Amino acid sequence: MNGIMNYYNDFKLLITQKEIKRKINQLAKRINADYRGKTPILISVLKGSFMFLADLIRELTIDVEIEFIELSSYGDSTESSGEVSVIKWLSKEIRQRDIILVEDIVDTGLTVSTLLERLEKHNPQSLKVCTLTSKPARREIEVPIHYLGFEVPNKFIIGYGIDYGEKYRNLSEIYYLKNE
Ligand code: IMP
Repeated sequence: MNGIMNYYNDFKLLITQKEIKRKINQLAKRINADYRGKTPILISVLKGSFMFLADLIRELTIDVEIEFIELSSYGDSTESSGEVSVIKWLSKEIRQRDIILVEDIVDTGLTVSTLLERLEKHNPQSLKVCTLTSKPARREIEVPIHYLGFEVPNKFIIGYGIDYGEKYRNLSEIYYLKNE
């Protein structure tokens, strides 16, 4: 994509603010029911899932704790390098704890699969995956998704925390790039 992007010419609205809100309500209801009497740790994978996490936890009525993990990003590209390196890891022990990994997108599945493997080594009580979006057409590694927001087409998406070259995270809706 060359030059300055124009919201109207280059982006197409995919998921509205209202749809996101409704979906988060539904996911939160399920999590509230599934974790009744428990205190799960929601691990947000930075940076893309920060907005989703913030909205999701405000709909939770159970006690929760939050943690952040940061991985290397795509940089300015829309293609993954195929490698996942850790920039920031957990700041607390997760042994015997109920863990919900919170992602923005499951694309090839490489990130979630790598994280699940690493988290398992810390012997959590349970380990589930909650993702706002999933692109099944791009999957290379099958990963379990316990809480799914939206299945999205094989397009590069942005907005609601999700970036393109670090930009557009501040948009309240999810768009896709028309020319990708
Ligand atoms: P995976 O390892 O291929 O599943 O990719 C997961 C990560 O790639 C996500 O957490 C995003 O950071 C990034 N990613 C994948 N698809 C998109 C997209 O359409 N827009 C923005 N980032 C994406």
